[in-house]
Amino acid sequence: MDRTAVTVPLEPPSFVHVGTDLLSEVQHEVTADQGVVVISDDTVRELHGAALEALAEAPTFSLPAGEDGKTLPHLEKALDFMAASGLERNGLVITLGGGSVSDLGGLAASLYKRGISVLHCPTTLLAQVDASVGGKTAVNLAAGKNLAGTFHQPRAVFCDVRTLTTLPPEQCRSGLGEVVKTALLSGYGFFDFLEANHAGLAAGETNLMREVVLRCVRLKAGLVATDETDQGQRQVLNLGHTFAHAIEHVSGYGRVPHGVAVAVGLTLALAASNIQGLLADQDLAGRTEDLLRNLGLPASLPELRERHGLLLPSEKLIAAMLHDKKSAAGLPRFVLLQGPGEAVRGREITAAVLDFLLE
Ligand code: GLY
Repeated sequence: MDRTAVTVPLEPPSFVHVGTDLLSEVQHEVTADQGVVVISDDTVRELHGAALEALAEAPTFSLPAGEDGKTLPHLEKALDFMAASGLERNGLVITLGGGSVSDLGGLAASLYKRGISVLHCPTTLLAQVDASVGGKTAVNLAAGKNLAGTFHQPRAVFCDVRTLTTLPPEQCRSGLGEVVKTALLSGYGFFDFLEANHAGLAAGETNLMREVVLRCVRLKAGLVATDETDQGQRQVLNLGHTFAHAIEHVSGYGRVPHGVAVAVGLTLALAASNIQGLLADQDLAGRTEDLLRNLGLPASLPELRERHGLLLPSEKLIAAMLHDKKSAAGLPRFVLLQGPGEAVRGREITAAVLDFLLE
């Protein structure tokens, strides 16, 4: 076992462990008198359930894989399952899976008996670098993604990077979209690291994955510590996301993986930053597009449309943005960049510029 712990310094603190062969450690988090329910999905339980060893006997609620499971009916079933399992107020929910599992499992834990503890074991890159850290929980509504949710900090997160070796390549690429976002928010050091190691990252090398997960978790832990409920600086994590959520909504949830939509959202946010005269580094947009392509990701809206066989008309994308939960006074707001590590929040983009970017 090899691990590094990152503390999210809240009250009480939350601990994010990053390393290899960590799942067998999870049993030490459970006290003798504590009931446990595992929330997972069929695929992940099959692949990694045995690694939870001592918890093999714990009742397990299984969701359909991906965004299909992240609905109110599945939340209700999860809560009924927790009640039928006799979970008490001192009970523990352990989630094992990707972001949909930790989002729904965290929400179920925050509601059950007015809130019980949750511990996340994220098994996708997307969940390790973003979804499982910081306490956001959610299910999707017909009107939009993540529209019903709470903040409920996990007691601990176990990011076992060996679980990433079983990921389908498309899911790994999707996680790398969020990694590039974090690099753009961090500074040139992380961005240069990704450029220098793109081949190993695209191949999913475990040591590189460990390094990028650690860097992403450290950045996010710092932002969450200063703005737990997303009222201020934490919102920079939405770089590229107003565009990405519109792409996901218009294409139908699950059709374009979240991080793939984020990759395209990043290129649009950089283009908008350039148009607004914010970006001092004229090479950054081109370098980001090259990096995304080298990681196997689309680097423009036309590339995404072609790769996924989607129309994604600009008027539908703009209409979806108006419903984004980050809209203010009916107008979509964007995170833009002055440079790596220098994000600005709450920016408007004119209708004419949106038309131009999304044509
Ligand atoms: N996924 C963005 C956040 O946790 O704030």
